[in-house]
Amino acid sequence: MRDLVAETHVHPRQLILPVFVADGLSEPRPIASLPGIVQHSLDSLVREAERVVTAGLGGIMVFGVPRKEDKDPRGSAAWADDGILNRALAAIRDAVGDDTVIMADTCLDEFTSHGHCGVLDPCGNVDNDETLPLYARMALSQARSGAHVVAPSGMMDGQVALIRDTLDRHGFTSTAIMAYSAKYASGFFGPFRDAVGCSLRGDRRTYQQDPRNSREGLREAELDIAEGADFVMVKPAGYYLDVLTRVAEISPVPVCAYQVSGEYAMIEAAAANGWLERERVIDESITSIVRAGADQVLTYWALEAAQRIGV
Ligand code: PBG
Repeated sequence: MRDLVAETHVHPRQLILPVFVADGLSEPRPIASLPGIVQHSLDSLVREAERVVTAGLGGIMVFGVPRKEDKDPRGSAAWADDGILNRALAAIRDAVGDDTVIMADTCLDEFTSHGHCGVLDPCGNVDNDETLPLYARMALSQARSGAHVVAPSGMMDGQVALIRDTLDRHGFTSTAIMAYSAKYASGFFGPFRDAVGCSLRGDRRTYQQDPRNSREGLREAELDIAEGADFVMVKPAGYYLDVLTRVAEISPVPVCAYQVSGEYAMIEAAAANGWLERERVIDESITSIVRAGADQVLTYWALEAAQRIGV
């Protein structure tokens, strides 16, 4: 009877697995602050993408981790054809074709020596307009490498419009844009910075949003939709369910939520100590995000959760 009247059902097709691939690895390398998650080698990444297909997930979101010596102030390894992220996208597309949706993180922070999502002005602040053409270049190289979706996550104003225009002018009219729209300056991204070897100098408060504001999240989503976003995203997910619900109420395009590294690490740590029932709270956390209005959820538990939900 409870199943008959349940209002919320999570399907594997709604889940997207974020993955990390590091340059120069021959074996996957564990990430200390994300137990169970690794930086992949190119080979192990391809096998993971095949598991994504078998599990019937909706997609895979790829983050690249360059070698330290390839980082520079502009993040030029981000758009190099032989950069780690572009090589990974090509390898995945080659292996799984169109059997799942291949998504690319479009942001410079993994590739810049200072760890910011864009280039810096002389005062050390991110320069929005100087950064935009670099995002366009990166997105175009990702589309060429085989990404079905590019996902600008750096919160630069105007990023969606310029990427759309650039992709269209080069014939990539059906490459979709997933816009990180309501992305908050959050402490819950901590373990991710470990995962991508990003040593951020300063913080991201000049371009990510203030956790005290929800109207701002709505406005960012509206702007991205007007600029041509095919998906909008709220991030983090679990502590921003109110923002998610508000965005879902007004959005004419699908709304994603990103259950971020800190949300993952907290539950894993508590479960490892026997303080929480691991599987129960994982499922509850994902269900709550869908109940709040997410059409898709990016979660590091995507493969495991899909197995429990069944395909
Ligand atoms: C930026 C980016 C970040 C995350 C995804 N894309 C980090 C940041 O903005 O500092 C965080 C994801 C997570 O915490 O799981 N490229």
